[in-house]
Amino acid sequence: MKPWEKISVSAAGNMVFGGCDCIELVKEYGTPLYVLDERVVREVCRGFDSALRGAGAQGRVYYASKALSTTALYRIIEQEGLGIDVVSGGELYTAQNASFPGERIVFHGNNKTPDELRMAVEYGVGCIVIDSHEEIGTLADIARDCRKTVRVSLRVKPGIEAHTHEFVLTAIDDCKFGLGLYDGEARLAVKEILTRKELKLIGLHCHIGSQIFEKEPFFIAADRLTDFALSIKKDLDTEIKEISFGGGFGIMYTEKDAEAEPYEFIGEMVEALYKNCDEKGLPHYDFCIEPGRAIVGEAGITLYTVGTVKRVPGVRTYVSVDGGMGDNPRHMLYGSEYTAKLVNKPTAAATETLAIAGRYCESGDILIKEAKLPPCQAGDVLAVFSTGAYNYSMASNYNRVPIPAMVLVNEGKHAQIVKRQSYEQLIENDTMAPWQK
Ligand code: LLP
Repeated sequence: MKPWEKISVSAAGNMVFGGCDCIELVKEYGTPLYVLDERVVREVCRGFDSALRGAGAQGRVYYASKALSTTALYRIIEQEGLGIDVVSGGELYTAQNASFPGERIVFHGNNKTPDELRMAVEYGVGCIVIDSHEEIGTLADIARDCRKTVRVSLRVKPGIEAHTHEFVLTAIDDCKFGLGLYDGEARLAVKEILTRKELKLIGLHCHIGSQIFEKEPFFIAADRLTDFALSIKKDLDTEIKEISFGGGFGIMYTEKDAEAEPYEFIGEMVEALYKNCDEKGLPHYDFCIEPGRAIVGEAGITLYTVGTVKRVPGVRTYVSVDGGMGDNPRHMLYGSEYTAKLVNKPTAAATETLAIAGRYCESGDILIKEAKLPPCQAGDVLAVFSTGAYNYSMASNYNRVPIPAMVLVNEGKHAQIVKRQSYEQLIENDTMAPWQK
């Protein structure tokens, strides 16, 4: 079902999300407000996990927590039995704060610092995904210092770039992540890893894009990664245990996006992997994926208060809200599109086409260029859908605007899981040079 069709209407005539009247939420927590529906997050986690088990695969679903990282969310993911992918000391620290078990964490990044690597080794993360030649020596030295053997996987570039309904195949990816399958770099990295007894190579990893609705690019990835697994088995006598296909599963932002469960083709992906393994005489590897957006994207909405409505005759009408690029930079960065509804008039006919603008000092600070809505006025509350992923996690303090609060809702219950930033917090790290005093 489309996220904006999942809502209901309260007795007071307001939009209900996660069982909560959104106007009541706004009265209690203010706007802008991120709202995350726990039930939806849990359902998607279970959907991915059971798709994987149903296909007879061993392996794990790792939630890519760059999409949204908070202590409360890590708790939910932990309870659902998933693993997580972290990409920084900060994400790892937050996971530690949630007591997330180290063995269910994979650590990614094309330039992890030595301090971050040490932190990961000390916490005992289950796997560190090697992304460069330099990292091999640095990590092995840290592991030796800590007297540990570290399980590593290698991120490779399979020459597939997928986005929405398009994908391109190339021999050489022009991309900062991973090591090339076809230019000898990945093979060289395997050789380097094998020289370090502190490192145990357990798998291969690729991430081919984002907001993908097609299964073919994943099938091609399965073919290419198993080819490589076969070649290192033959030539370097190295047997891996798992293959990870990263994330990228698409969600619905607007009517233009396909309406499908993001885990719908996991079964076919597993089948494609194992068919390749059988044909190439390889064992059935553990199958891993790292969905980020698909787990939290549709579970989140953002509530804003309309402040001004400015008509530019013959051009467009700008409806300005109290948030914008600081809490959701995705339209500015990628031209991303969203769907909105008026919380206090959820059933009114959408007779107008309006530009939803933010409050930041940038002309490009737009959330939705052409939103279909009923007439808007100051004081209305607007809900933007599918903002659970890459909104809070990419928020900034531009214009020194505090980052909004986040509320977790679940069948009528609600609780704050991220407090609204205060002005005091904004200046917390400001200091002055001694000569200014
Ligand atoms: N695994 C790896 C190694 C990744 O690099 C990513 C995303 C994921 C998993 C999760 O991908 P997802 O399932 O969420 O598509 N800020 C952008 C998205 C950047 C994604 C980067 N890597 C956006 O707002 O669209």
